[in-house]
Order: sequence, then structure tokens, then C-alpha cells
Amino acid sequence: MAINRATLRQFLLQEYRTHGVEKDLVFLLEDIATACREISTLIRNGSFLETLGTAGSTNVQGEAQKKLDVIANEQFESHIRNCSRVAALVSEEVDEVTWLKDTAKAGDYIVYFDPLDGSSNLNVNLSVGSIFSIMQLPEDAVAGDVNTVLRDGSFQICSGYSIFGPATTLVLTLGHGVHEFTNHLATGEFRIVSRNMTIPEDCNEFAINASRFADWDAPVRNYIEDCIAGQNGPRGKSFNMRWTASMVVDIHRILTRGGVFLYPVDARNRAEGGKLRLMYEANPIAFLVEQAGGSASTGTARILDIQPESPHQRASVILGSRNEVLRIEEHYRQED
Ligand code: AHG
Ligand code: MN
Ligand code: MN
Ligand code: MN
Repeated sequence: MAINRATLRQFLLQEYRTHGVEKDLVFLLEDIATACREISTLIRNGSFLETLGTAGSTNVQGEAQKKLDVIANEQFESHIRNCSRVAALVSEEVDEVTWLKDTAKAGDYIVYFDPLDGSSNLNVNLSVGSIFSIMQLPEDAVAGDVNTVLRDGSFQICSGYSIFGPATTLVLTLGHGVHEFTNHLATGEFRIVSRNMTIPEDCNEFAINASRFADWDAPVRNYIEDCIAGQNGPRGKSFNMRWTASMVVDIHRILTRGGVFLYPVDARNRAEGGKLRLMYEANPIAFLVEQAGGSASTGTARILDIQPESPHQRASVILGSRNEVLRIEEHYRQED
């Protein structure tokens, strides 16, 4: 019975009582959840609203923006603006940092987000999602100074994602485990469906865009070759492969049944430092994965320890089941 399941608000109020989560953060997360419900509806009605297809513009990473990339960004921004404690926004779809305050106050929030992840899936009716991360301004913050938002991922106080698939789900962490909510259509509420999601330490499933095989560095090639060698290979077991082209959907599968996800730096993306963006893709997902008992690495370093140098910088991303990530790191050490 859905009615017996705690709503997101009830869950957040419990976090407020138990862990001292700030009330403003509770309100902010409710606004983000509302933005996600709106985006979900806009995607489902995309054919009728004529919001599928490209916007005719390009974002700072040189990607052709989809109309829904732009619309989802507007939804995030307008709902987040309800919270007077938010000082700055960093979005995949906006070149510069958006400052909502003229003066910086320590403790105010910075929200980093990928308004639509996997947007190439939109026109083929496959799942997509949104990713967000929240940090707080440090003592010496200067409003308008880009350096103020360049904090490493260990400063995140919250991160999460929503998936617009067969069901609309919201998964988040406030630093005390990872919890999953599903939008219950009858009441319109996100209701908890899974507490303390845990990634199994071992797995036999990997996610990588194998069309880049020729570009991979030796550690990745060696690891994947070991996996696909099957029962008679060095791993002594068979592996399965999945790739959805939406990171957040691959990660949801890993949080649900284990596995490892790789979008490593390779010969084709080395000049940019990888494909996925650190502040609003790699960091929030790394925080969730670590909270669920998994590991998140570049291959040679912990993702949450990377000191960012620009808001849209990229990172090599290898994360999921702990023992599998350790094994890949071992391949990197051997190739050193
Ligand atoms: P976005 O749609 O936000 O630009 O992100 C797409 C990312 C990520 O979600 C996915 O894992 C990856 O790009 C897919 O890349 P390929 O096109 O190489 O499969
Ligand atoms: Mn994009
Ligand atoms: Mn993305
Ligand atoms: Mn995106």
C-alpha cells in the first residue's frame, strides 16, 4: 500500500530531527523534487508539446542542446530560486556560474546540476534523468568569484538524481545512506521504496561504451579483455554488459544489483580530460556510490578528492562495486 510509505517530506523531516539537516535544505530538496516531477511530465508529453528535437543552440561543451535540455534547465533554475539560501547555480547548460546573491554568506548553498542526463535518448523514448549536487559556501567566499564554487566533492552535503523511466524515481543521499523514492501517481508524492541501498562488493556486469575500444588506454583494455574472456579466462566467470547512454540509468542499475561503470579518459577525449563533467555528473554520483558502499575512482585517484579548476571540467569515471573498482585501479598501477 503506497499510503503506508513515508513521503519525501516525512523522510526529510525525520532527517532534520535525527541528523540536524537544515530546514532550508529540506525546502530546497522539495523544490528540486517538484522540478523533477515537472520535467517528467514535460518529457512524457514531449510529442504533443513539440519539445522533442534540437534547440538550435550549443552549450559550453560544444554539444547541440536539445529543446528539453534547455527546458529542464529552466525548470531547475526557477524552482531552486524559491530557496533564499541558494547563492549560486552551476548547470551543464549554462556557460557561466549563475549568482543569485550579491553578497556571499558562509553556509549558503551552491547547487550543481545536469538538468537532463542522457538527452540523446529523448528522441527514441528511452530513459533519461537529472542529477544534482549541493555544497555550502566557505567562510572566505566571494560572490561573483568562480573560485568560490570550485570545491572538491568531499564538501557535498547532498546529492541525488531523478530518473524519468517507466516510473519517475528520486534517489538521494544526505550523507547517511542512499534512499530511493518513487513518484506515486495517485497522490503525486515521492514515496520511499528503498532505504539504505547497498552496492554488492563483487559483480559480473560492466557498463562501458565498447565502440571506443580502439581509443582505450591499456589498463581499461586489459580489464575488459579479462572480463569478456569468460569462464576460461583470468576471471574464471562470465560477465554481462549493459550500456544505456544515460549515466544516471546505468548507475541506478548498479545501485540496485551491482556492477561497474566506466567512462575513462581515452585517446579520443584526453585533451578534454574525459567526457563526463566533474561537478554535476561525477561528483554527485561518486558521493551516492560511496554512501552505498561502492568506490568511485578516476583509475588513479578518488573522484571526491579532485580539486576542480573550472566549473565544467571533465573527469575520468570508474565506479560501482568496490572490489571491481579496486581491480581496475590495480590495472592502472601495473601500467604505470
Ligand atoms: P548528457 O546527456 O548530460 O550530455 O550526458 C551524456 C553522458 C552520460 O549520461 C552517458 O553515460 C554518456 O554521455 C554517453 O556517452 P556516449 O554517447 O559515448 O555513449
Ligand atoms: Mn549534454
Ligand atoms: Mn549528463
Ligand atoms: Mn545533460
